[in-house]
Amino acid sequence: MRVLSGTKPTGDSLHLGNYFGALKQFVLLQEKYEDALYFIADYHSMTTVRDAELRRRYSMNVALDYLAAGLDPDRAVLFRQSDVPEVCELTWMLTTVTPMGMLERAHAYKAAKDQGENVDHGLFTYPVLMAADILLYHADLVPVGQDQKQHIEMTRDMAQRFNHAYDCEALVLPEPYIMDDTATVPGTDGRKMSKSYDNTIQMFAGKKALKKSVMGIQTDSTPVEEAKDTDTAVFQLWNLFATPPEREDMVERAQAGGLGYGDVKKELLSRILDYFAPMRERRERFEGQPKEIEEILRQGAKQAGAIAEPVLEGCRQASGLGRPG
Ligand code: TYM
Repeated sequence: MRVLSGTKPTGDSLHLGNYFGALKQFVLLQEKYEDALYFIADYHSMTTVRDAELRRRYSMNVALDYLAAGLDPDRAVLFRQSDVPEVCELTWMLTTVTPMGMLERAHAYKAAKDQGENVDHGLFTYPVLMAADILLYHADLVPVGQDQKQHIEMTRDMAQRFNHAYDCEALVLPEPYIMDDTATVPGTDGRKMSKSYDNTIQMFAGKKALKKSVMGIQTDSTPVEEAKDTDTAVFQLWNLFATPPEREDMVERAQAGGLGYGDVKKELLSRILDYFAPMRERRERFEGQPKEIEEILRQGAKQAGAIAEPVLEGCRQASGLGRPG
């Protein structure tokens, strides 16, 4: 069983959606399965980040967040997507079996188009590159948040179409791995937490910035003495840091009235700080070791490349590219 997933480098640190929706599962799955690969999706970041220095910095940030959260280079292969550029060749092959209609139905593309954005070909082809990421490594299980489910379904479809077109089994169909209760972590405005909505709470933001984000979580105007609806962002976020009995207790407190949103926010802030404190410490240690991190990524790329090479060769042979084998 091979596990694989990736994260786009687009900021200073990952947010609670990335962590609870994906990264936390990455760490748990590296314990459960010996064969795990996690990468920094720097090619994917090219659809939004247009600055070389920023991309380098953001990529380093993802590496730091991975290590801080507990990914262990002795257990999992950590690498930079662009260090195995063969993924671009597989992307091309997959584009030739991908109907336009499939890509036109992709949520990210549709949303960008609906907002009147100038959509480029990279954003349109994004799901094909993502499929190539997964298929190049014969991944079986892909831990992701709910927002990526459609991409995994497309990946399966593309793999099937390629195998069928060339009557081969060159590609393996992956399964998504999505945790029910953290599939979609809400942002401070109640929509899905996402950088593009500017509603994120970052795992490793400074205390002041964190406080600002948490205190800015939108709530309704229910007076303190009245019962509160716990199916809202502030409670849903608090739940991420609470045990089941604590959650039940909170529901009771909320229903009884007398609980102010401000109090819940203060509790949430202190839980976020406590929860991430050991990771923050680890991150600070790694920050002083950029050379060691580069070495981890270099080794990771070597291991990833060794897995990718025969898979790509299988696709080349199946489709009649290159020298006959
Ligand atoms: P990215 O970088 O946007 O997000 C990384 C992971 O975080 C999850 N996530 C969330 N989960 C729950 N609630 C949220 N609010 C939330 N926001 C983000 C995402 O579902 C994702 O699992 N296209 C991918 C990167 C990628 C990839 C891949 C992933 C490229 N190639 C191959 C898996 C396999 C992305 O943009 O993730």
